[in-house]
Amino acid sequence: MPSGMKKGLTSYGDAAFSLYLRKAFIKAMGFSDDALARPIIGIADTFSDFNPCHGNVPRLVEAAKRGVMLAGGMPMAFPTISIHESFAHPTSMFLRNLMALDTEEMVRAQPMDAVILIGGCDKTIPAQLMAAASVDLPAIVLPVGPMLVGHYKGEVLGACTDCRRLWGRFRAGEMDAAEIEAVTGRLAPTNGTCMVMGTASTVACMTEAIGMALPGSATIPATHADRIRAAEAAGTAAVRLAAAGPRPSEIMTGAAFDNALTVLQAIGGSTNALIHFTAVAGRLGIAIDPERFDRLGRETPVLVDLKPSGEHYMEHFHWAGGVPRLLQELRELLDLSCPTVAGGTLEKALESAEDVPGQSVIRPRARPISTGGGLAVLRGNLAPDGAVLKRSAATPALLRHEGRAVVFDTIEDMTARIDDPALDVAPEDVLVLRNAGPKGAPGMPEAGYIPIPQKLLRQGIKDMLRISDARMSGTAFGTIVLHVAPEAAVGGPLALVRTGDRIRLDAEARRLDLLADDAELARRRAAWTPRPPHATRGYARLYEEHVLQADHGCDFDFCRPPA
Ligand code: FES
Repeated sequence: MPSGMKKGLTSYGDAAFSLYLRKAFIKAMGFSDDALARPIIGIADTFSDFNPCHGNVPRLVEAAKRGVMLAGGMPMAFPTISIHESFAHPTSMFLRNLMALDTEEMVRAQPMDAVILIGGCDKTIPAQLMAAASVDLPAIVLPVGPMLVGHYKGEVLGACTDCRRLWGRFRAGEMDAAEIEAVTGRLAPTNGTCMVMGTASTVACMTEAIGMALPGSATIPATHADRIRAAEAAGTAAVRLAAAGPRPSEIMTGAAFDNALTVLQAIGGSTNALIHFTAVAGRLGIAIDPERFDRLGRETPVLVDLKPSGEHYMEHFHWAGGVPRLLQELRELLDLSCPTVAGGTLEKALESAEDVPGQSVIRPRARPISTGGGLAVLRGNLAPDGAVLKRSAATPALLRHEGRAVVFDTIEDMTARIDDPALDVAPEDVLVLRNAGPKGAPGMPEAGYIPIPQKLLRQGIKDMLRISDARMSGTAFGTIVLHVAPEAAVGGPLALVRTGDRIRLDAEARRLDLLADDAELARRRAAWTPRPPHATRGYARLYEEHVLQADHGCDFDFCRPPA
């Protein structure tokens, strides 16, 4: 099996010529024969001026290179797509699969014996894990780390839970335009990923738990010296992985996915992570069973007290002991025999867990924040293929609720009418948004956090039951049912709901039902017609024709292994 510079030669019909030509060109970089004979460690560089979350990537690349060279390898950094949440039109989710394709093909195409994947902002690590699963070359994920907290007039601020909370206060007339403008300079005070338990933090913690990142590396703040040292350690580990593995398919087993999903429940993590890890598992031929995930949730207490469900921020989680300390608390619920990129098993990774006396961020199992997990999977005639509810961020009184549907047909319809003083809506109603799923929007935007109508906000209403086929930012909160599958755009039952229908949520029974009789629903189905496709060409067409539903991780059908 060829390795290093001899791997994956460009096809000229003469292998010796291909290697000779490759050497001739790479020597233009000034590398010696000794350097080029070493194991080659690729480093996926996701720095972009459009991605402030990845602002520390150049220093991480430099430190990772140092680690590779200290271990006797030859580092080769290469660029891939980088996606930032706020700079991705129409949505970052629309581009996740493109980044997965790009990363997969660049890792395949270029000669490397292992790869360090530097990611962080929401969709980047999922895309990299999807690629790693498909290529199955030894790989290690190096998260960029979370931001430090912001401050405004004595308040501690976290992106983007407080972005939403303060925007809500502005919409309710409690803050003026000058104040909300001033806040934009305080919400994201450093490079790094959002410092609440949003999607980026959730995915980083799960990546450590599944064994694809070094112990402790999920939570180190982006700006700290330890983050640089973690990059160096990743470089050293990558050289060992190149020589002896394990490969991603040997790390990301069914048991390891259970470990990651248990952590998702225990941190009260982002609903988006379920979609992403379902996609990664699908690349390895592993099906994430929603009922099993729900069962894991019922057995797993929420132990980490972070916003948006709790009080603290990622830097506090880190200093409380981070993921290793959390895994210690969960050890009876985990399979500790799973291998990790650190070498050895998860059991060994737990040895690095620090005991921090007096910390209140990671609760002991005997004193959880809540029992029964953070996320619940719902079924019912409104969601035959499932829907997700973040119980830990919901209003307890709304977890069992029946109300009148107020339906918005599209995001544009919602935007146009939600604040209309003439909108017929009451606090006990159920807001429904459709055609915002993987194909419908397209790109399954984070529009599931349907704003409370302004006239109700002004009455002091802070939460309502909201249902959609969209996603929600992991940093958001409320009684919000998401990922309804199948989505409305492919004829799921959400397409049949009318304003005035009654909807019932029973979170304890895991049910979501439209209270209409079958004959009436059959009549509506017969009258339903699909909307015309959005895209005629290019990536948008590829996406629309091949994206799978939320319960299959929204991956492309052709990226899964053959059955
Ligand atoms: Fe990048 Fe939140 S915007 S992690």
